[in-house]
Amino acid sequence: EDPRIAGISSSIRVIPDFPKPGIMFQDITTLLLDPKAFKDTIDLFVERYKDKKISVVAGIEARGFIFGPPIALAIGAKFVPMRKPGKLPGKVISEEYSLEYGTDKIEMHVGAVQDGERALVVDDLIATGGTLCAAIRLLERVGVTVVECACVIELEELKGRVKLGDKPLFVLISST
Ligand code: PRP
Ligand code: MG
Repeated sequence: EDPRIAGISSSIRVIPDFPKPGIMFQDITTLLLDPKAFKDTIDLFVERYKDKKISVVAGIEARGFIFGPPIALAIGAKFVPMRKPGKLPGKVISEEYSLEYGTDKIEMHVGAVQDGERALVVDDLIATGGTLCAAIRLLERVGVTVVECACVIELEELKGRVKLGDKPLFVLISST
C-alpha cells in the first residue's frame, strides 16, 4: 500500500450515529483541514489517471465537487458537475436511483459531454453504489465511455462494488 494512505485515512473523522442512529459517518471535512492529506489524496488520483486519456471528470454533487475539480485541472480534463434535480439552468438529462426510502435523481447538462469522450467519475464515497451507477448510466446514454469510478472511501459491507458490475472502481480506503 502507498505510504501516503495511512495519513489520509487518519485524517478522516468518523462520527457515530450521524445522520441517524447506527450510521458511522465518514467525515471528509477533517481531511480537507489537513493540506498534506488533501494534496496526497489528489496526487494519488492524478498519478493514476494522468496518462489514461481522460477528457472529462464528472463529479457528483456535493462531495464529488471537492475532489473532482483539482483532479480535472491536473490531468488536463474538463469538469462536469452531476447535480441534484432542479439546480442546473440549461437543458438536462437525468437518471433516477433508489435510496433506502424512495428515489433521488442526478442531472447533467445536455452538451456538456460529446459522444466518444472518456470519463472518470469522482465522488467522496461509495456506499450502496446507487449514485455511481446512475452517473454511469447518464454518461453512457450520451455515448461516453466511463473509464473508471474513483472514490476516497468505500464502505465495503454495502457491496456497492458488486452493483457496479464490470465497471472498474478505484478507492484509496476500504472501510468495514
Ligand atoms: C453520499 C456520498 C455519495 C453517496 C453514496 O452523498 O457523498 O455521493 O451518498 O451513497 P450510495 O453509494 O449508497 O449511492 P449524499 O447524497 O448523502 O450527500 P452529499 O450531497 O453530501 O454528497
Ligand atoms: Mg454525495
